[in-house]
Amino acid sequence: VNAPSDSGLRIRPYRDPDQAAVVALWRACGLTRPWNDPASDIAHCLKSREAALLVGEDAGGRVVASVMVGQDGHRGWMYYVAVDPDRQKSGYGRALVAAAEAWHNARGVPKSMLLVRAENARVIAFYRALGYEVEERVLMTRWLKTPPAPPGP
Ligand SMILES: CC(C)(COP(=O)(O)OP(=O)(O)OC[C@H]1O[C@@H](n2cnc3c(N)ncnc32)[C@H](O)[C@@H]1OP(=O)(O)O)[C@@H](O)C(=O)NCCC(=O)NCCS
Repeated sequence: VNAPSDSGLRIRPYRDPDQAAVVALWRACGLTRPWNDPASDIAHCLKSREAALLVGEDAGGRVVASVMVGQDGHRGWMYYVAVDPDRQKSGYGRALVAAAEAWHNARGVPKSMLLVRAENARVIAFYRALGYEVEERVLMTRWLKTPPAPPGP
């Protein structure tokens, strides 16, 4: 995980001092939502042995990319796939997804999966370029705590 990828991105595990940069990255990429507090999402991930948060540093050591990975013994998941908007289209996203797949593969998980919000359809082209296919499924959920108020007008 630590060697720089072909793109020059160095992907390594998240460390506490990265928090401000990672939260800023997620905000810049539009990945935060009122019901997902980024700091508690990170804390929750770090507590799990079946999940990890990886960050990508550029040559100058600046955190410019992230991916959160997890596995449930059946499938591998990725979340918070993010590249600094000023650094996109340089192969960093490809390197992140490869790192997530390697993390899954190392744990014997046969399939990597991710969810794309319907309004984020533009990233479908990105994942297609990496060999991902759209599988039609109905996603069903239920809140286990009080759901957040819907966004205001
Ligand atoms: C999606 C995202 C991670 C892609 O990162 P990136 O560093 O720009 O991607 P790469 O440069 O590695 O691109 C890899 C391939 O995908 C293609 N691609 C990337 N963005 C694309 C787009 N918007 N439309 C079409 N193709 C795209 C590239 O052309 C490239 O293909 P190639 O290597 O054959 O030329 C980045 O745009 C991002 O952070 N977006 C905001 C956050 C987000 O929506 N994340 C996904 C949550 S599900």
